[in-house]
Amino acid sequence: MKTLAKAPMLAAVALLALPAGAGAAARGFHFGVAAGEVTSSSAVLWARADRPGSYILEVSTDRRFRLHVARRRVAARPSHDNTLQRRVRGLRPDTTYWYRFVKGRRHSDLGRFRSAPSPRKAKTIRFAFSGDADAQPAPGSTKPFYNLFQAYRAMARAGNAFNINLGDTIYSDSEVGGTPPALSVRAKWAKYRQNLALRSLQLLRGSTGVYSHWDDHEFVNDFTRAESGEKIYADGVRAFRDYAPVRWTARDGLYRTFRWGRNLELFFLDERSFRSAKASANHVCDNPRTGSPDLAPTAPQATRSLFAVVVPSLAAPVSQQCLDAIDDPSRTMLGRAQLARLERALAASTARWKVIVNEVPIQQFYALPYDRWEGYAAERAELLDWLTKHTRNVTFVTTDVHANLVNDVRFQTLEQGGPRDSGITEFTAGPVATMTFAKEIDSATGQAGSGKLVTDVFFKGAPPNGVGMRCAATDVFSFAEVTVTARTLTVDYRDQDGRRIPDCGPFTLRAR
Ligand SMILES: [Fe+2]
Repeated sequence: MKTLAKAPMLAAVALLALPAGAGAAARGFHFGVAAGEVTSSSAVLWARADRPGSYILEVSTDRRFRLHVARRRVAARPSHDNTLQRRVRGLRPDTTYWYRFVKGRRHSDLGRFRSAPSPRKAKTIRFAFSGDADAQPAPGSTKPFYNLFQAYRAMARAGNAFNINLGDTIYSDSEVGGTPPALSVRAKWAKYRQNLALRSLQLLRGSTGVYSHWDDHEFVNDFTRAESGEKIYADGVRAFRDYAPVRWTARDGLYRTFRWGRNLELFFLDERSFRSAKASANHVCDNPRTGSPDLAPTAPQATRSLFAVVVPSLAAPVSQQCLDAIDDPSRTMLGRAQLARLERALAASTARWKVIVNEVPIQQFYALPYDRWEGYAAERAELLDWLTKHTRNVTFVTTDVHANLVNDVRFQTLEQGGPRDSGITEFTAGPVATMTFAKEIDSATGQAGSGKLVTDVFFKGAPPNGVGMRCAATDVFSFAEVTVTARTLTVDYRDQDGRRIPDCGPFTLRAR
């Protein structure tokens, strides 16, 4: 574990070790390079050329490319916005590789990644994750509204084995006022270029391997195919795949797993391709006072009445129809096939730690549950039940909520009978650059300071008054670093400048 005092020096060393090309403008290419889907023997390498045509991908264990491990021809096509992608195989485990795309004397930035160690090798692995990044400027401005993605820069500088860019990697429908939504493939390409124009994101993608994953905003806010339609899904998949080097199939969506030595396996869940419509669809959960979905339909009425002082609509009871929709066992977040596949993979995994990379929170906090696991209550309960019976040393890492929240993924908290723990912890992190959860709560209630109030009283407050989170930092641009050894899994929360977040860990789980 590094300490705060050592962090600046380590960051400086890591920066010196960054690829030489990263930082200098490459002729004929823009938007950097990326190495995705890294395994112990393969990776998918990415760049974007200014012009269509034929390019050469070079891969080497030597940053001066005196000896090529691979040399492959790749085409840049206008139908893919001139992005270049190629999977290279036959790599050695636990080895550093350098890569670049070349055309004549022009070449891309120099990228670097490290292949995963073999499953037999017991090695400490450190990675970071965050997500929710929007580079949109306010109307009339050229400067990104929120920040310059400093959290990505800090992740890149930490010298991690790999990083995860976990969802809302663009905002098709930006929360920056006055921005038209990007719904076509062409408009979404422009969004990816807008984010990738920031060097921080280029550094994240070029300095080591990066797993890219989507959430709703690659499509549209709180996306389901059932509610938003197939065209938005198809266009979102196409644009995402052009800019993120990932493995996607119509059958499995973005579900995939990656093994990092003896101690770690990652399970990426696709929570957009196969899910049912939200319970709030067709106005089933509308609050009679507001005419929009109730803010906390699953909270007991006693809790709702308490908070009605701040949010008057909570005084109105929730319809049975809404509660039935949330609990409906035929509704699914993962789809039956993906759930079965996840369970098979978890049961078969020999890794000490099984980290589920999760698009939307699974811990309970009641506020606007429709898009999260709580809004798919039957499948949530089923998954938790299965995990507690059939696995050990499982944890969830999550973004989406624009907050750093740590808690047990409870079966129940405020319900009759009181809290019932699963023994499984969820860590949420972020955002990189969008409205923080605290500010979203302020804007939802129309009262400045209500985000802080909800955080202090309800998120941190112990049951039965609150949900008793171990950390609730809801107003900070951030990421989390995860360090995995044979004995422990440690999560260390950092703000966008790389400083520890007060009252938020580090948290260490011990292997059972
Ligand atoms: Fe988001």
